[in-house]
Amino acid sequence: MTDTLDIKITKTSKSRLAETDFSNLVFGRTFSDHMLVADYSDGEWKNFEIVPYGEITVSPGISALHYGQSFFEGIKAYKHGDGKVTIFRPDKNALRFNKSAERLCMPAMPEDVFLQSLAAIVDIDRDWIPTEQGHSLYIRPFMFATDQYLGVAPSKTYKYMVLTCPVGPYFSKALRVKIETHYTRSAAGGMGFAKSSGNYGGSMFPAKKATEEGFDQLIWTDAKEHKYIEEMGAANAMFVLDGKLITPLTQDTILDGVTRDTVITLAKDQGFPVEERNVSVAEIIEGAKNGKLTDAFGAGTAATIAPVGSISHNGEEYTLIDPAQRDFSRKILQTLDAIRYGTGPDTHGWNYFV
Ligand code: PLP
Ligand code: COI
Repeated sequence: MTDTLDIKITKTSKSRLAETDFSNLVFGRTFSDHMLVADYSDGEWKNFEIVPYGEITVSPGISALHYGQSFFEGIKAYKHGDGKVTIFRPDKNALRFNKSAERLCMPAMPEDVFLQSLAAIVDIDRDWIPTEQGHSLYIRPFMFATDQYLGVAPSKTYKYMVLTCPVGPYFSKALRVKIETHYTRSAAGGMGFAKSSGNYGGSMFPAKKATEEGFDQLIWTDAKEHKYIEEMGAANAMFVLDGKLITPLTQDTILDGVTRDTVITLAKDQGFPVEERNVSVAEIIEGAKNGKLTDAFGAGTAATIAPVGSISHNGEEYTLIDPAQRDFSRKILQTLDAIRYGTGPDTHGWNYFV
């Protein structure tokens, strides 16, 4: 544990809060008043500062722009009825932040510095946290390489920043998803487990093609045979098949999602059987055909619990039961919301109070 993090604070002279329309929030388009910035050089993190949200100046030669030494996290903060502010399980994100950093040859951020930086930026913009159900303050910590150098080598200098955005639901309806059997998000030995910016850049072309075909999201499959389910867009894929919660095992091709872990833990709390294992496309399609697939959803910080309305595979579309009739995901979401909005018990101590 380091001492209290020394952060220089310069507050905005002109808050945008009053002119922000909280009833029409589009995910990731509205930024709150401030951002946090820090620098890494000579082997240490320094210059922690909170400044008004705005543009930054970087050299066009920075290696993040050329070689993608860049990654991020996604976390949410909530305001409870009594005004208390919490961040949901940020310690898990701190761990994953450093796993991403290691894979990309970037410097670690000590967990307590990471947590204090989030608490500081959330605290200064606490009036930006929406309270309506399904709304929250999305926190986006990220790191990028800042050496001006066109040789392919790990940078020696970096920037760490944290932005926050008031957000509403990421998806507005049950998703029409396609099982991708040509393109690949990640292969064994790659960096699928890291929240590397390049993973998202590479996913856009297949996702755009799917959107043009009328789908909302892709379900990624394994790179080798396209026989096993990996993830769903920017969320982990979860299913209730034959009365059990099944979800792919996390391994180096899959992001170890905080929401995934949360859903598994809550399911186990409720005595619901859980299987983390390889999930074949064939068994999911069979379950969709014979009615044993009673729930399917994406689990993610931005996505929360995003119900899958239909699944397409090799040109055949299978419509699943109406999300309003799904016992499992509705109950899990209720329990999760009660913890996050402070209306129910937080038995696992997941709320980090700011
Ligand atoms: N998988 C990918 C590729 C993601 O981008 C996300 C979103 O963060 C997730 C899974 C879900 O992870 P988490 O629940 O930690 O947000
Ligand atoms: C998140 O859920 O935090 C994500 O990373 C999704 C984001 C890419 C929109």
